[in-house]
Amino acid sequence: MTKMRFMTLERYITEQERKFPEATGELSRLLSDLAIAAKVISREVNKAGLVDIIGFTGETNVHGERVQKLDEYAHEMLFKAMDHGGHLCIMASEEEEDIIHIPPQHNLGKYVLLFDPLDGSSNIDANVSIGTIFSVYKRISPGDGPGTIEDCLQPGYKQIIAGYVIYGSSTMFVYSAGTKVHGFTLDPSIGEFLLSHPDIKIPKKGKIYSINEGNYKYWHPGLKKYIKYLQDIDPDTSRPYSSRYIGSMVADVHRTLLYGGIFMYPADVRNKKGKLRLMYECNPMAFIVETAGGKASNGKMRILEVQPEALHERCPIFIGSEDDVLMVEKFMAEAEKGKMM
Ligand code: AHG
Ligand code: MN
Ligand code: MN
Repeated sequence: MTKMRFMTLERYITEQERKFPEATGELSRLLSDLAIAAKVISREVNKAGLVDIIGFTGETNVHGERVQKLDEYAHEMLFKAMDHGGHLCIMASEEEEDIIHIPPQHNLGKYVLLFDPLDGSSNIDANVSIGTIFSVYKRISPGDGPGTIEDCLQPGYKQIIAGYVIYGSSTMFVYSAGTKVHGFTLDPSIGEFLLSHPDIKIPKKGKIYSINEGNYKYWHPGLKKYIKYLQDIDPDTSRPYSSRYIGSMVADVHRTLLYGGIFMYPADVRNKKGKLRLMYECNPMAFIVETAGGKASNGKMRILEVQPEALHERCPIFIGSEDDVLMVEKFMAEAEKGKMM
């Protein structure tokens, strides 16, 4: 058994902060507050089958999808954990149409928080992994009053911190401040996240692809060709690839991060911009995967360089091992060239 240092998330954050004497501690407190929200949501997710909390509320969110009670609960918990820390000037959530202001009785800080409170919520009833995704930016609007929409619409490469919490066979908190990606596993008996996956690196090439193949007929011709290519037999390039699709982005990307391969939610003839949201899902995951050595593309360009125009805009995504993302881009570009000739 390899021996690892016993490192809690709290201790790790504090140790990191000490390396920067000029640090004010705001970011550390922000991360600690996020970890508290994650524990509370994890507790509730774990007992979802026991209490009368699962099931649809009958209402729809801003994307026109049915909202489940746990989505609301997670949204609420994140807001409550983050509104009074004095580190944020504005928030935005996948579950709320407009930007979320910090209540006037609380202090404002210089950071901006965007989150998907519960990702993969249609999987709750089946006891399948779900998650929370978050993204932190520095404010860009002048002054020190309330933050603005401009603060929330920054391109992904400006993220200071991004991460996710996966509520799976165990609960894990994975985050990056841009140099390394670390994973902390929750020990429910002591209520602490413990460093279990230090310095996660994604394999350069994988052998698993992940996509909702039911949409095959609607895909771009280059993507259809790429998937057929992955299914061809060529042991030298690990083909045929295995197919895995959970239907929770957090879980599918988490597996991709650890094992390598590619996760895709493409644009198609019905959904010209795909399904997943740039600000709450694509950017934070792109930040994590790139920091771990992988790539994230919208099919044509780096996700992190897309200039957002609206809070809830969607974006096609191809994310994972570098070689695999480069390959799908190549297939799509070649199909485009073919169309022009
Ligand atoms: P959310 O639950 O936050 O609305 O996100 C659901 C997303 C994402 O987690 C997953 O990758 C995708 O929906 C699955 O969509 P399909 O059912 O269309 O495959
Ligand atoms: Mn989601
Ligand atoms: Mn969600």
